[in-house]
Amino acid sequence: MNISTRRACRWLVSALLFSGALPVRAEMGQFGHAPGNTAAEAFQPVRLATAGRIGEDAVLFVPAGLQPEALPPSFSLVKSPKICAPVPEGWRVTPVFSASAQRFRARVETDAAVDLYGGGEVAGPLRRNGTSIKLWNTDNYLYNKDQAKRLYQSHPWIMGVRPDGTAFGVIFDSTWKAELDCAGGLTFTCEGPAFPVLVLERSSPLGVLQALADLTGHMELPPKWALGYQQCRYSYEPDSRVRQIAAEFRQRRIPCDVLWVDIDYMRGYRIFTFDPVKFPDPAKLNRDLHEQAFHTVWMIDPGVKADPDYAVYQSGSAAQAWVTTAEGREFRGKVWPGACVFPDFTVPAVRNWWSGLYRDFLAQDIDGVWNDMNEPSVFDGPDGTMPETNRHRGGEGLAPGPHRQYHNVYGMLMVRATREGLLALRPDRRPFLLTRSNFLGGQRYAATWTGDNESKDKHMQLSIPMSLTLGLSGQPFNGPDMGGYGKNATAEVWARWVSIGALFPLCRGHSEKEANNKEPWAFGPAVEQTARLALERRYRLLPYLYTCFNAAARSGVPVMRPLFLADPTDPALRREERAFLLGGDLLVQPAWAQGVAKPKGNWAPLSLVQGDGKDKHQAHLFVRGGAILPLGRVIQHTGERSDTPLTLLVCFDERGQAEGQLYEDAGEGFGYREGDYRLATYRATRGTDGSVDLKVSTEGRRAVPADRAVQVQVIEPTGQIHDALKQSGL
Ligand code: NOJ
Repeated sequence: MNISTRRACRWLVSALLFSGALPVRAEMGQFGHAPGNTAAEAFQPVRLATAGRIGEDAVLFVPAGLQPEALPPSFSLVKSPKICAPVPEGWRVTPVFSASAQRFRARVETDAAVDLYGGGEVAGPLRRNGTSIKLWNTDNYLYNKDQAKRLYQSHPWIMGVRPDGTAFGVIFDSTWKAELDCAGGLTFTCEGPAFPVLVLERSSPLGVLQALADLTGHMELPPKWALGYQQCRYSYEPDSRVRQIAAEFRQRRIPCDVLWVDIDYMRGYRIFTFDPVKFPDPAKLNRDLHEQAFHTVWMIDPGVKADPDYAVYQSGSAAQAWVTTAEGREFRGKVWPGACVFPDFTVPAVRNWWSGLYRDFLAQDIDGVWNDMNEPSVFDGPDGTMPETNRHRGGEGLAPGPHRQYHNVYGMLMVRATREGLLALRPDRRPFLLTRSNFLGGQRYAATWTGDNESKDKHMQLSIPMSLTLGLSGQPFNGPDMGGYGKNATAEVWARWVSIGALFPLCRGHSEKEANNKEPWAFGPAVEQTARLALERRYRLLPYLYTCFNAAARSGVPVMRPLFLADPTDPALRREERAFLLGGDLLVQPAWAQGVAKPKGNWAPLSLVQGDGKDKHQAHLFVRGGAILPLGRVIQHTGERSDTPLTLLVCFDERGQAEGQLYEDAGEGFGYREGDYRLATYRATRGTDGSVDLKVSTEGRRAVPADRAVQVQVIEPTGQIHDALKQSGL
């Protein structure tokens, strides 16, 4: 047998094993193969089948064992990549493939001077050099399991930034259980068959992130209310408690838009049901809350109680909806309601069935949906999930396969089905969907939060690199459980947390059942005032924040950004993970972060609401010289008009120039796709006499509200603000 025939035989055996046609070996246990364990596991080189350009400065590398013209469907990419031209001359980043009997590997050599970022949901640090993660979505309470090396989501993606500020990105396009090692280059090793690698090359990291969004999909613009403050707890129950929380916000004049309803609303934790005693009339509850301008988000888990008298179990069983064991029996595992079955979301008909379940649910006037526990978490399953040998049926081009293959996309497929359901049932409303589990590209379906963190300073600080890294991995709409989920919060930790959390893309306070109350007023008047100030700042920033979300939706740039994106050539910014940028123009420096190196240029200290400068917890804010920030009034919820007066805060650069944008639309629905929006670009020049010449150009056909007053203010490098001119029609 010559070498290539032997390799082909080995590949046949591997392919059969991976496809589940042969029994999968028991020894392929939980990450049993440490990278570098070469004595036990020899990796042999695998040749490249082909490589070529698939678009502007993006190259696809296909190893032997795959058909370049018929690649398996990709979960991360929006469309199957097609090679259109040869690899460009002088291409710099090239993977090398190898395989052992059990695993497949791609390795990318990187220069030691290259800084690495990304990898999705990771427990810090921001700069990934020397770290390693495991890609196996895991319910990881307090991030305690496996030293937090695996969390709820998987993003087989890394971006490298060179000293000259040029950047590249690498997608390892496999869903299988894997490890991503960033020590001495990049090594991605999966417990599955051959996979393709995509490499993007751009002149800047922002360019790479835009290219990533083009390949893996853009976040859709969320409804504007989802940008407001959101209050959650496991659980506000019964319904009178939800009403009481709503009343407290309005009486105390603390801005808030969304109230969350966790699992205790259900009848015995049966999804899509309501407890007849605790939540007898959810529709009325929602209507009453709407009258006070709250929106509500209600939870749905994937586990369906295996109860023959329960309609969802009945209709799912009739549709053969459940994941099966290796032997083909209905798989059962414990979650909140006891023994559950789990929809096999790889099957198109099952996704359809799931989408349809939302009909009666949404009829209760529910605004948003929260999909949780979708790693999936199985309390009595091996390693907290279902057996890797369980079977998924697939369909429409998706091959049947073992759970080991589809585990990492279980949550993604679930939120895909949920989103499709929400859109089909309410074609005129933008879905708001939050998920705990997801995969690279999952921003197409849902926003996310970083799971069960702990109420302590360490996790408050960690939330910054975590959210930044999600943003650098394609997911702009994310945030932590503000205040910390697990354990009691102290007043100090909660105050420090709300002071920065109010400036994250997703701003939601949450807490576990056993912990103390964590609403803004729960820690006494001083912390309540800190929370009020922090949230008032967020609401003043809404016009700017919504503009940042629009930019993220359109072009894939993150909402919350690391400082190095402002100047990728400045080495001093590369490791900064305490301070961050909101959009490109506002720098947020937590009160506890000393000695932050700012990007070059003027950064003017900014006070947004009266008293924020005197509160010891509030983050220090700085506006970029050269920017114009659109600011609103303080409002109590996004249903109120914040745009009159609209403030255009002009911060000139050294040359006396400034530029900024304001995006506006109906805040809901899809009219913006047909031009019902207004994107104003403002350009200001400072005259030699100190006067301000402000010009505006607009895109979209939405008119400026006739009653809008605009106030133009100039902020000096000292932070002093003075009025410049009053103008309408801006
Ligand atoms: C686990 C989630 O992470 C948490 O946020 C939620 O409150 C509980 N499940 C209960 O539903």
